[in-house]
Order: sequence, then C-alpha cells, then structure tokens
Amino acid sequence: MINSCSLRPLTENDLAMVLSWRNEPAVRAVMFNRHEIGMDEHRDWFATASRDETRRLLLVEEAGVPIGYVQFANVRPGGVSDWGFYATPSARKGTGRRLGAAALNHAFGALGLHKVCGQALASNTASIRMHCALGFCQEGILRQHHPIDDRHEDVICFGLLSHEWD
Ligand SMILES: CC(C)(COP(=O)(O)OP(=O)(O)OC[C@H]1O[C@@H](n2cnc3c(N)ncnc32)[C@H](O)[C@@H]1OP(=O)(O)O)[C@@H](O)C(=O)NCCC(=O)NCCS
Repeated sequence: MINSCSLRPLTENDLAMVLSWRNEPAVRAVMFNRHEIGMDEHRDWFATASRDETRRLLLVEEAGVPIGYVQFANVRPGGVSDWGFYATPSARKGTGRRLGAAALNHAFGALGLHKVCGQALASNTASIRMHCALGFCQEGILRQHHPIDDRHEDVICFGLLSHEWD
C-alpha cells in the first residue's frame, strides 16, 4: 500500500506532544491503561522503552506534520510483534488507516516481521474498524478480560501475516 506518511524514531523532543495526545480523554477512554500519565512517568517509560532493542517507538508524519504514534514490541526478523498506536486528537478521517498502513509497510519491510498482532477493547469501534480495513484477521475474543470500573470488557485479538500484507 503506497502512502505519503513517514516514520522516524520518537525522540526526547517529541515527548510532551505525544503525552498530550495520549492523555486526551478520548484516547485514554479506549486504552488498557486509562490513568492520566504524568511527565515523570512518561520520561521513565521512554528511558526504559527506548533502550529496549526489541521495541520500536515511532512518530508518524505526513508532509512533515506529526499525525500519530506507533509502537512495536518483540521485534526480531521473522518474528511476531504486538503493535499499538494512536492518532493526533485533531486527526481528520482516514488518518488512522494511513498511519497504520505506513507502520505495516515498515513492519513487514524494514523490520522483516512475520506477523503483527493487535488487541482492542470491544467498545473501541475505531480501532476495530481500522484493523479490519487494514486486512487484519480477527483471531479470537478474550471474553470479559479487561477490568474497567465494576465490569470486565471483551478484548478482540487481531493478526496480520506478512504475505497477507503483500
Ligand atoms: C484508532 C485510531 C488511530 C483510528 O484513527 P482514525 O483517524 O479515526 O481512523 P480512520 O479514519 O482510518 O477510521 C477507521 C474507521 O473507524 C471509524 N471511526 C473512527 N472514529 C470512530 C468513532 N469514534 N466511533 C466509531 N467509529 C469510528 C471510521 O469511520 C472508520 O470506519 P470505516 O472504515 O468504516 O470508514 C484513532 O481513533 C485513535 O487514535 N484512537 C485512540 C487510540 C486507540 O484506540 N488506539 C488503538 C488501541 S487498540
């Protein structure tokens, strides 16, 4: 899939911007970890995660403008990686799909992954539709799996194989 997004490693200079996206109520509401993240916690996370050679923390830009953040875990050539992402709160429709497509081009190209896996809360319609639009297969449902307030929400598991992206 051809698109005009580019990816680059997240840097210290991006942290405040990315934290403001991550802390938006609409983003927090659909994440597994919903608390408001402070700058110290965010810096500690970055210090640890950016040293981990099996992780990729990536800023996605379009015509030089940041449009979102994507991360891959358990990265190794031929491996199976879990991804996560969010778009800028001001993103226009279609941003998620373009961001996702650019990230998957990178995952199955430069990173040489065999498979990318994603998980979404059952209430996260945008993420579910985005995974489906990108060609992910729904591989299972973890029933009443994630505690939220006084209930447990289903988690939808997605997978996409390298040759399916080709
Ligand atoms: C998930 C996310 C990146 C999608 O970004 P986006 O720019 O809305 O993506 P797209 O415009 O490509 O839309 C994807 C689909 O979701 C739909 N959608 C978007 N926002 C929606 C909403 N709030 N409610 C219902 N559907 C929504 C779109 O209409 C589109 O559906 P379509 O394929 O039938 O047209 C963005 O919503 C986001 O950052 N969410 C918060 C973080 C998050 O959920 N991360 C993933 C955790 S698993």
